[in-house]
Amino acid sequence: MLYYCAVRVILVRDYDQVSVRAAQFVADEIKKNPSLVLGLPTGSTPVGMYKELVKLFQSGTISFKKASAFQLDEYVGLAPDHPQSYQFFLKDHFLDNVDFPASNAHFLDGMSQDIPKTCDIYETSIRKSGGLGLVILGIGRDGHIAFNEPGSSLSSRTRLKTLDHTTIRDNARFFDQPEDVPKFAVTMGVGTIMDSKMVLLLASGRNKAQVVSDVVEGPMTAMVTGSILQMHPKVTVIIDGEAATRLRRLDYYTKVEEMWDEKLSV
Ligand code: F6R
Repeated sequence: MLYYCAVRVILVRDYDQVSVRAAQFVADEIKKNPSLVLGLPTGSTPVGMYKELVKLFQSGTISFKKASAFQLDEYVGLAPDHPQSYQFFLKDHFLDNVDFPASNAHFLDGMSQDIPKTCDIYETSIRKSGGLGLVILGIGRDGHIAFNEPGSSLSSRTRLKTLDHTTIRDNARFFDQPEDVPKFAVTMGVGTIMDSKMVLLLASGRNKAQVVSDVVEGPMTAMVTGSILQMHPKVTVIIDGEAATRLRRLDYYTKVEEMWDEKLSV
């Protein structure tokens, strides 16, 4: 087999190219399987990808009519109509701008009075939908995927998580006052994400360079929850030049992609 990286790394020029390439990836998978079950991230990184997906929908290239979606995580204490809630973000940037059936979009209730029950119901809904087909991830500077902060169990399921101070500081940019940033979240677990048939991780910019190398090439450790993706059979990482600067085997990943492209074009 030509392709044998533990993690497939696709290097592109800049953030815009990360967005275009990621949207292309998702579109290809939706075309192969219109009933794809997606795990959807929020944050700054996927904004461009969502824009590109909306364009692909508007041009008639793809449809989400049969797809399903589960949000990766949600702040505790924010109502769905709060502009900083992740449910609001996903509807605003993506779901409301394409033909996604409302009944197929699943959200975590950050206002629930019984969070463990909410989390159990969420896991059951994922199972009932046939399991996650493609989880899309950003990566926190502390290595978190979804809100699985350092030290999370690598087999964890959807649950309540206390946010790390790095994450709270990083997310303060979205709130008027630093003290407004929620301190807790409900999040898919690392085990929930690892059960997905495919994973796509996106990263852009110099401030992600260290964590990208920790995730792709570092030792597997619960201190960088994204590093467990090295155990997943089908992970693709799309990064730009700045996020790639600390990868030791970048030449190798680039060569593998070139050889793969040549093989596909013969
Ligand atoms: C958000 C999420 C987080 C973010 C991560 C990176 O739903 O799951 O793991 O992906 O915090 O955020 P950005 O993209 O803002 O750097």
